[in-house]
Amino acid sequence: MRHLLSAADLTRDDTLLILDTAVELRSLADRPIKKLPTLRGRTVVNLFFEDSTRTRISFEAAAKRLSADVINFSAKSSSLSKGESLKDTALTLEAMGADAVVIRHGASGTPHRLANSGWVRSSIVNAGDGTHEHPTQALLDAFTLRRHLGDLEGRRVTVVGDVLHSRVARSNALLLSTLGAEVTLVAPPTLLPVGVSTWPVQTSYDLDSTLDKSDAVMMLRVQHERMNDAFFPSAREYSRRYGLDDRRFALLPDHAVVMHPGPMNRGMEISATVADSHRSVIVEQVTNGVAVRMAVLYLLLSGQRSSPAAEEATA
Ligand code: NCD
Repeated sequence: MRHLLSAADLTRDDTLLILDTAVELRSLADRPIKKLPTLRGRTVVNLFFEDSTRTRISFEAAAKRLSADVINFSAKSSSLSKGESLKDTALTLEAMGADAVVIRHGASGTPHRLANSGWVRSSIVNAGDGTHEHPTQALLDAFTLRRHLGDLEGRRVTVVGDVLHSRVARSNALLLSTLGAEVTLVAPPTLLPVGVSTWPVQTSYDLDSTLDKSDAVMMLRVQHERMNDAFFPSAREYSRRYGLDDRRFALLPDHAVVMHPGPMNRGMEISATVADSHRSVIVEQVTNGVAVRMAVLYLLLSGQRSSPAAEEATA
């Protein structure tokens, strides 16, 4: 595997290799010194054309914990705001010797363009492209689910909300079904994409009836910035029908976990008490994200498949 562009490209074995590598790396997070020398001398560029907090700092922390050099490149403070093309940006990164480019872009397909253009030799990692995919988010979600539920075969995961604009939903639908989970998307009809019938999922418009059968419920942010139309009558109505409030929370089985990729609209898709409850794994998702991204960078860049711990021993 040279690039990570899409959850659709990952087989079950690829996915398990990444998740198992992340399990080893996750133990570093609990140590006082969180660093391995594995990617010393390698350069990882974070190329972010869209605003991001957790994904960018997560990739940055992941690369630094593997001792790579990190260059953060954000569109607003670079020549991109002066009209430079993607190609010229790519040639600049290539000239600087980037080994991996982690890219987030508002246009679906941009990471694929970069990977297939021949402009750069680096590995490309998709950190979210438009409304298309966000594979490392799906990997960290699967990682978090496995920590709480064990093997995901036959487990029921309910993904709720703005599926239409959500790259997180698509990547999760693909990855979780690759791992054998049963995914149900719950949304108002206006927020389900055309063609969802070809996804490996079930769909429903009724949240209440799916909750008592769910092993996990993943709430999605209502993406106001991508909405150029009215998709529901009012925020209040959306929240009443599709928000995870305290009453709905009580319908979940005792073992079920609550997830959200962040950033959350508290009071809209999720109530503050549910977000902060003991069944919420939202903060843990962030911690796990670093381990999963370390695993991805390690597997793409180290060019070998021995265990990271074994490398530490010989370093
Ligand atoms: C998600 C994204 O950017 O796609 N957030 C994230 O990566 N943590 C979801 C969102 O923006 O709602």
